[in-house]
Amino acid sequence: MSELRFDGRVAVVTGAGNGLGRSHALSLAERGAKVVVNDLGGALDGSGASAGPAADVVGLIVENGGEAVASTDDIATPEGARAVVRAAIDSFGRLDIVVNNAGILRDRSFGKITVEEFDQVIAVHVRGSFLVSHAAFPYLKEQGYGRVVNTSSPSGLFGNFGQANYSTAKMGLVGLTKTLGIEGARAGIKVNAIAPVAWTRMTESVLPAEFETRFAPERVSALVAFLAHESCEVSGEVFTVGGGRIARVFVAEGPGWRQDDHTVEDVRDNWDAIMAEQPYLTPTALGEQASASLRAML
Ligand code: NAI
Repeated sequence: MSELRFDGRVAVVTGAGNGLGRSHALSLAERGAKVVVNDLGGALDGSGASAGPAADVVGLIVENGGEAVASTDDIATPEGARAVVRAAIDSFGRLDIVVNNAGILRDRSFGKITVEEFDQVIAVHVRGSFLVSHAAFPYLKEQGYGRVVNTSSPSGLFGNFGQANYSTAKMGLVGLTKTLGIEGARAGIKVNAIAPVAWTRMTESVLPAEFETRFAPERVSALVAFLAHESCEVSGEVFTVGGGRIARVFVAEGPGWRQDDHTVEDVRDNWDAIMAEQPYLTPTALGEQASASLRAML
């Protein structure tokens, strides 16, 4: 089988100075993509800034014979997001791939979490991914081609103690992925999300030490590159990925129970049917789910 290449393609990878983003940027560049390596260079909680991490990754790419430019813009602001996209257009003349990867953590149990800690996490993950995609969208639409990869998390998909802000943000990205996938379809824009697990500064304090090699960020980047490639045909999908395993995660609706007029007791008495999982539907848009509900009425 032929190698999947990105020659002539231009990618923006946010948060690419460290961890997963760094690995995605290196892997896309190695396969021929020109890359805007964006990273604010702050601490894990989003504080501070440094030009170092983005510059280092650009240095590595150039050393390996690739092409890349650094951006230290804050993607959580509209100006920063526009600047990242402009860096691609100004430096390389086009933009094909957006990998929304930048992220911060402000973990705190729900009883202690502050409104500020909630807002900051939503701002980087949800607002940042929205803003960069929004700034890129006119270019992708105009050329009739684009690939967007968002970064969700198992914490958002399944919940995790102490991460009310982070899991809200990460499930929010699933909604963004699905709707942007629908809106981009006619223009050849595919939008998917990953929910990774990898050994990075974000997880090194919670993952066992022996996971450092097993859950290397490189074991996430092959899926990201595939979803960013023109041969990727799916859109609106979410995949867990890490340690060599990749699995599709889907939002499914059970067969349900219905009765035109029903009482609270009817709900109680039919609880098993309401909770049933099989046979389930995996609607690809609201319309499909609504049709299923209407069909059940006939
Ligand atoms: P990391 O902390 O190594 O990398 C995140 C990068 O984003 C940092 O270099 C940081 O400077 C940058 N960044 C943060 N705010 C920014 C902003 N406003 N503008 C530009 N850059 C900004 O963490 P890691 O693990 O590589 O995380 C990457 C993504 O993967 C994040 O979205 C994270 O939530 C997600 N993720 C990671 C998991 C893991 O197991 N490592 C698990 C699930 C999701």
